[in-house]
Amino acid sequence: MEVKEISQAVIGRLPRYFRYLGELKDEGVERISSQELSGLMKVTASQIRQDFNNFGGFGQQGYGYNVESLYREIGKILGLDKQHNFVIIGAGNLGRALGNYMNFERRGFIFKGMFDANPELVGKDVRGVKVMPMDQLESFIRENDIDIAVLTIPKTSAVEVADKLVANGIRAIWNFAHVDLNVPEGIQVENVHLSDSLMKLSYNINRYSSDMK
Ligand code: NAI
Repeated sequence: MEVKEISQAVIGRLPRYFRYLGELKDEGVERISSQELSGLMKVTASQIRQDFNNFGGFGQQGYGYNVESLYREIGKILGLDKQHNFVIIGAGNLGRALGNYMNFERRGFIFKGMFDANPELVGKDVRGVKVMPMDQLESFIRENDIDIAVLTIPKTSAVEVADKLVANGIRAIWNFAHVDLNVPEGIQVENVHLSDSLMKLSYNINRYSSDMK
């Protein structure tokens, strides 16, 4: 299937479709119409049809989508049919919480290594992975086919560490440090700021409260 220039807005919605379809598949549902999916996901049926049309439609008009194959196709588009090895830089609270989360493996993201600048953390075990010192980072990335680095270090050192990662062949950075990284074209960065989501929640609390007045 040829996939061209899909908007980031559509890509951003695919993981949610993937999650819902995974649940439907686990429940033994074989077919679902865009109307039914729309009811479940609270997205309009036309939005669903438009999104899926980007990839050739996935279904027959009036007959609904085959849940299993739609799930598989969306997984493929998201690259989840391949394995991605990742390392975590920063074995503090956040880094350890991410390292301890098992579900990434289910999606093909394999936790291979963890690094920290604090010698007291070196050798500590996070779900079977030992924390390594930063001077082993470069050779580890090269020798273990690592394509994703998770950055859970303070913003003061994130830029420097990101440069080192890129120089050693990292293809993508999942960046939790509160700083924008300047990486060369072709390197993918996904910034995650949990507080952005919290601020959105705060906005909605306030809006809801003022609507009630
Ligand atoms: P933490 O202080 O528990 O852990 C940070 C770890 O990074 C420490 O173990 C420290 O030794 C290590 N470190 C510092 N400089 C380093 C370097 N140059 N190379 C390797 N390791 C280094 O902090 P926590 O709570 O785990 O947060 C980590 C970072 O993530 C903080 O900068 C925080 O602001 C940010 N954060 C971001 C969130 C988000 O949603 N984006 C949410 C929570 C935290």
